[in-house]
Amino acid sequence: MSFESKLLIPLHVKYIQNLGDSKDDLTYHLTAHLRMNAIYWGLTALCVMDQKNALDREEMIKFVMDCWDDEAGAFGAHPDHDAHILSTLSAIQILTIHDALDRVDVPRIVHFILSLQQPSGVFSGDSFGEIDTRFLYCAVSALSLLGQLDKLDKDKAVEYIRQCKNFDGGFGSVIGAESHAGQVFVCTAALAILDRLDIVDVATLGWWLAERQLPSGGLNGRPEKLEDVCYSFWVLSSLSILNKLTWIDTDKLISFILSAQDPDAGGIADRPGDMADVFHTLFGVAGLSLLGFPGLMDIDPVYCMPASVIEAKGLRKGWKALPRRAS
Ligand code: FPP
Ligand code: ZN
Repeated sequence: MSFESKLLIPLHVKYIQNLGDSKDDLTYHLTAHLRMNAIYWGLTALCVMDQKNALDREEMIKFVMDCWDDEAGAFGAHPDHDAHILSTLSAIQILTIHDALDRVDVPRIVHFILSLQQPSGVFSGDSFGEIDTRFLYCAVSALSLLGQLDKLDKDKAVEYIRQCKNFDGGFGSVIGAESHAGQVFVCTAALAILDRLDIVDVATLGWWLAERQLPSGGLNGRPEKLEDVCYSFWVLSSLSILNKLTWIDTDKLISFILSAQDPDAGGIADRPGDMADVFHTLFGVAGLSLLGFPGLMDIDPVYCMPASVIEAKGLRKGWKALPRRAS
């Protein structure tokens, strides 16, 4: 069997298509607060597998527009949910991929996002408060996709990220928090969008990221933690932004991701034997794409969106993926 045929693309496409089918299922209702994110994860995974049209475009755009919170002027995760910066970024990503951004009220969204920046430079997720470098990334990415980055107080945002930098070169969720590969992604990608990668200590951070690979080939998010397929994206995207992807063992990581596939129902899990979900399915195929796995489309590691979409908008930064292998 060829390397390429071991990635079960038709099964993963079916898995994503079927996600919305079981609306009687309890988990469907329990995950309502993540619905907008889940649609972005599913759509992006389909794009990486070159199957963008496997979900209906108009239906998806209608769902996004039904999640508009007119009081706040941004998007919630589900119709009638309050607006949040995470679901607002996912909505903008979905509409950007479908070239449908003309349907949104850009000035209101920009106002919502800017209202969440704190005096320290970091962002909260909504008007209720929790702050985190994740929300700073969401603000930077969303404003950039909307062509409104000039409205942001960039120096204040960069200064907050600078203060989150740790002795090991990594970044945490707030000042003083330990380095975590998910937070390294959001801080590195935000700095890339803001053209301030000079803040990063490339050699130290590259070493810390490469140290995330375990004997199984999988990557963890912090020392002493288990390997998890989603770190294939959080770690690899950061390494590709730093142009240090060759610092990990590609073939061992590819084998680990492939071993976390569900060979019956499709989808990819956090690790072999666990239940698949759409989040790990995206980050599994996105990781494989960055590693040059044959037959996949390029993903932009800064925006976690199809590279062709970001290129067409003139937003591509200087990241480097591994060369795509021949089929
Ligand atoms: C790990 O989370 C991941 C992160 C902290 C980064 C999350 C990034 C965003 C929400 C920004 C938007 C993302 C994209 C791709 C556009 P976890 O809670 O699973 O960590 P754990 O493994 O320690 O539980
Ligand atoms: Zn995970």
